[in-house]
Amino acid sequence: MELDLAGSNIRISDDIKSWEEVNLLYNSALKQIMTKIEILNEEFQEVHRYNPIEHTKARLKAPESIVKKLKRNGYESTIENMVRYVNDIAGVRIICSFTSDIYKIAEMISNQKDIQVLTVKDYIMNPKPSGYRSYHMIVSLPVYLSDRIVNVKVEIQIRTVAMDFWASLEHKIQYKFEGKAPAHINSELHECAKMVANLDARMLSLNDEIQAIENKK
Ligand code: GTP
Ligand code: MG
Repeated sequence: MELDLAGSNIRISDDIKSWEEVNLLYNSALKQIMTKIEILNEEFQEVHRYNPIEHTKARLKAPESIVKKLKRNGYESTIENMVRYVNDIAGVRIICSFTSDIYKIAEMISNQKDIQVLTVKDYIMNPKPSGYRSYHMIVSLPVYLSDRIVNVKVEIQIRTVAMDFWASLEHKIQYKFEGKAPAHINSELHECAKMVANLDARMLSLNDEIQAIENKK
């Protein structure tokens, strides 16, 4: 596709040729999205006098994991297939205090003009059978190279501290048992997930109450 950007013909392309290029592009996309999130958090702090974000983590998927995922889904290990089918080569995790923050952050990100939201999976409204809760978005954003613009996908996971606590342990357990944990462990995890959801709801309502008192002052 050709696009006339301020008079200069810069190509927008999905064309990524080498592993080095994959690395460069996805790493650049990660840096950009991290900066955007940092700016939003600082602005939010300025306006509302509180930080919706506790912390963020960014990671590039290891090449072995990319290859494994392609294989699992029946695709050959080519650069083209990586770019097309692996949506989480670049991943960002945003951890916040309250469930309501998740939706605020998701909205702020979605509203950015150069970010295109490709898919949303709301595992808070619809938890996974495991009990997993989190808000997932696959977004695409432009990375500007010297001679072209490449739209790069980033997976964003947004969750509360409590959801993150649960997901970390569950991940560790599934890893240890290679996804086949004993039934009683799975059901205990499911119970814990319900407690986490309950805790999130109660902490939010406590916070709302305090917020209301402060607003009256
Ligand atoms: P993947 O092939 O694992 O990427 O899943 P998907 O393409 O179906 O996407 P989904 O949005 O369901 O999951 C993406 C990511 O969310 C995973 O790579 C994990 O990081 C996280 N995730 C999803 N389900 C679970 C779960 O049951 N437990 C934990 N701990 N993490 C999960
Ligand atoms: Mg994944």
